[in-house]
Amino acid sequence: MTGLPRVITRHWGDESVIPLDGYVAAGGHRGLRKALEMAPDDVIALVKAAGLRGRGGAGFPTGMKWSFVPQDTGKPTYVVVNFDESEPGTANNRELVEREPHQLLEGAVITALAVRCETVFVYCRGEFLWPGTVLARAIAEAYGAGYLGADVLGSGRRVDVVMHRGAGSYICGEETALLSSLEGFRGQPRLRPPFPAVEGLYSAPTVINNVETLCNVPHILSEGAEAFRATGTEKSPGTKMFTLSGKVERPGNYELPMGTPFRVLLEECGGGVLGGKGLKAWTPGGSSTPMLTAEHMNVGLDFESIAEVGSMLGTGAVMVLDETDCVVEVARRLTEFYAHESCGKCTPCREGTWWATRVLGRIEEGYGREEDIPLMGEMGRNILFRSFCALADGAVSPISSTLKHFQAEYEAHVREGRCPVTGVGPGKAPLEGVASS
Ligand SMILES: Cc1cc2nc3c(=O)[nH]c(=O)nc-3n(C[C@H](O)[C@H](O)[C@H](O)COP(=O)(O)O)c2cc1C
Ligand code: SF4
Repeated sequence: MTGLPRVITRHWGDESVIPLDGYVAAGGHRGLRKALEMAPDDVIALVKAAGLRGRGGAGFPTGMKWSFVPQDTGKPTYVVVNFDESEPGTANNRELVEREPHQLLEGAVITALAVRCETVFVYCRGEFLWPGTVLARAIAEAYGAGYLGADVLGSGRRVDVVMHRGAGSYICGEETALLSSLEGFRGQPRLRPPFPAVEGLYSAPTVINNVETLCNVPHILSEGAEAFRATGTEKSPGTKMFTLSGKVERPGNYELPMGTPFRVLLEECGGGVLGGKGLKAWTPGGSSTPMLTAEHMNVGLDFESIAEVGSMLGTGAVMVLDETDCVVEVARRLTEFYAHESCGKCTPCREGTWWATRVLGRIEEGYGREEDIPLMGEMGRNILFRSFCALADGAVSPISSTLKHFQAEYEAHVREGRCPVTGVGPGKAPLEGVASS
């Protein structure tokens, strides 16, 4: 490992799940005790001062989001923990919950205190059977020990936590679709404004945060804003959990200070590209973020640095492609995911993603036409920013970024009628060195 500072994984040792007593012994719940002594607005001010930004993809400032929640509306205020984690390549929320569920619960309770909420909902991805079980047990443990319920640690403050399991739909991670799903409706995004902070669950003020975001909160409370800001960059303070997968020697979740160069993640944490092969491309933040290449080895992993090179930090899911991977195949497979997960509400997304799979498929299989390459670019432009939610924008990323960096590979597919990397395809002329059957 790198020896670089860790915050939200610092307690992790050999145990598969840290129980409540182990969590408290390691310093857990100090943040909650502190929050109980503070005025709610002071908790918000502290999180604002720390500069914590949402880890669910967009990087929105967390304290600011909390400050948008109106008071005295006559309605209850809700906190919703987004534990739907379905972005391809992303698996850090899962491990955070599986290994240290009380850290998340502490963060959620502090958030509830800050926004004067008594009911927290955790929306758990349907397929997360084991993480959901771990969390359900931790919730029961926390109730038993007085960290949840009608009188949190004898403070007279009430905070209940209710876990709801989703049914396996990527779009239900989008915050407004999640709310619809939680209310029992079909999981489709809603028009914004009004934003959930003002009109969210059951039309009441609602804060929605990602699991990793909330796991940082106890540390900000117990150690202060300055300590949090000591790691990371000025505009992207703190650490980020990166899920490293694909063609690497040691895939896994790695917590690193924001701004750490990609090279450190790939080489020092991940042991380099599998089998010592050449790096071809990588996603900085899941399949919805434009791919980068070997040129970007020294780019810092933070919101600003990744944006400067034309991509997004997203969820921090770094998927690595090596020199033997066909980018057309990768783009086609990812596009199939989006076509399958599109909720169908709007035409550019519903129809565009489906047609893109057809065109990419024929290029990949060696039946592409010259005009297919500009057609792919045009389809991307017709989907991007023309749909209701960011699923469609994300769907364009694998197509537009592979076209940007690897247009020659697309052209070779069309020209040769086969993949120039793998040799797969019928071919338009006898292939040298490949025996005809
Ligand atoms: C298609 C789509 C899927 C999303 N899936 C998730 C998800 O699984 N988990 C998550 O935290 N945020 C997801 N988001 C982002 C949420 O809408 C929202 O921005 C986030 O939960 C806010 O939390 P944060 O401010 O703590 O990052 C998704 C967004 C889109 C457009
Ligand atoms: S962009 Fe796609 S996923 Fe989002 S609302 Fe429209 S059809 Fe549904």
